Amino acid sequence: MTETLTLLGLESSCDDTAAAVVRQQAEAPAEVLASIVFGQTELHRAFGGVVPEIAARAHAEKLDICVADALAEAGVTLADLDAIAVTAGPGLIGGVMSGVMCAKGIAAATGLPLVGVNHLAGHALTPRLTDGIAYPYLMLLVSGGHCQFLIARGPEDFTRLGGTIDDAPGEAFDKTARLLGLPQPGGPSVQAEAERGDPMRFRFPRPLLDRQDCNFSFSGLKTALLRMRDQITAEKSGLTLQDRADLCAGFQTAVADVLAKKTQRALQIYLEENPSEPVLAVAGGVAANSAIRAQLETVCAENNTRFVAPPLHLCTDNAAMIAYAGLERFKAGARDGMDLAARPRWPLDQSSPAMLGSGRKGAKA
Ligand code: KG4
Ligand code: ZN
Repeated sequence: MTETLTLLGLESSCDDTAAAVVRQQAEAPAEVLASIVFGQTELHRAFGGVVPEIAARAHAEKLDICVADALAEAGVTLADLDAIAVTAGPGLIGGVMSGVMCAKGIAAATGLPLVGVNHLAGHALTPRLTDGIAYPYLMLLVSGGHCQFLIARGPEDFTRLGGTIDDAPGEAFDKTARLLGLPQPGGPSVQAEAERGDPMRFRFPRPLLDRQDCNFSFSGLKTALLRMRDQITAEKSGLTLQDRADLCAGFQTAVADVLAKKTQRALQIYLEENPSEPVLAVAGGVAANSAIRAQLETVCAENNTRFVAPPLHLCTDNAAMIAYAGLERFKAGARDGMDLAARPRWPLDQSSPAMLGSGRKGAKA
């Protein structure tokens, strides 16, 4: 039997309102028929961060338009769908509730089954959508709100090997940019500066490398940067363009070094399972950084492990990953009812203790 499944996915857990349609024919690779993302950056710009109430209202206003656009672009109607997948957490509760209520409304009106999806599972399963990789694989999620290693064994089976105990790396890039007067988001602007800087001039710390675990700490880098910036300013009454580029290069190299060394440790643990075709996959905006990517690629090559980095628009927040994760859950028999709850917190690995801090508070995953 060749079964074709078509799912609508909804995402609204932070500051992107997104809807997508994903289709899979039997065991063929899944296809993204449409992926619409409405960002809210402009709405929050004046506040220096995401304002939950503004985000929730914008999601509620945009979700139905987003769904209509996704269906139109995919060339399907609600009657062509097999189920609706929706992010049910973790995230900003008002936004998650907007998405869950929208999905319930469509499910009630059409009789379609509803599948709640963990947003982090969406990120973690993306390399299966884009590259069709098999379980188990090692996942490094590096975004503005998260930093963790997961061994993905199934659509709902994840082992967390470690993560950040304070800031996420993207957050560290954003704060660095702010301290140096560079535009947001900080990642791309710090990377551009770093490319013309000397990474050896300033020596940044390599936090937690003395510990044999897979945990990270990035908040000390920002403090180190602040100290160096203030010292130069005191000595020369200002930063030159070269000083700024050198600070960015030193900072970026420290982040890349720490990520690479900890990846080496996480790989050792994962490789002990003897996967037949070992894979390290990355997701999240920071995975776009070419210096970080190059170091991770080297670690993988040294360990005969394939490196998979999905295209950036599927690495950052989107609804195609939610539709796809929903499709995997749906195929495994999962169905949620009208009592599906919106959850602000929802660790992927329930057996792993919650980390204090672990990325930007309450916001983007
Ligand atoms: O995954 P994402 O779009 O959203 C979150 O879920 O956080 O990641 C956004 C983060 C921002 O902090 C941004 O500065 C960072 O990813 N980022 C980068 C680069 N491009 C985006 N960080 C380092 N280098 C980059 N090239
Ligand atoms: Zn996310």
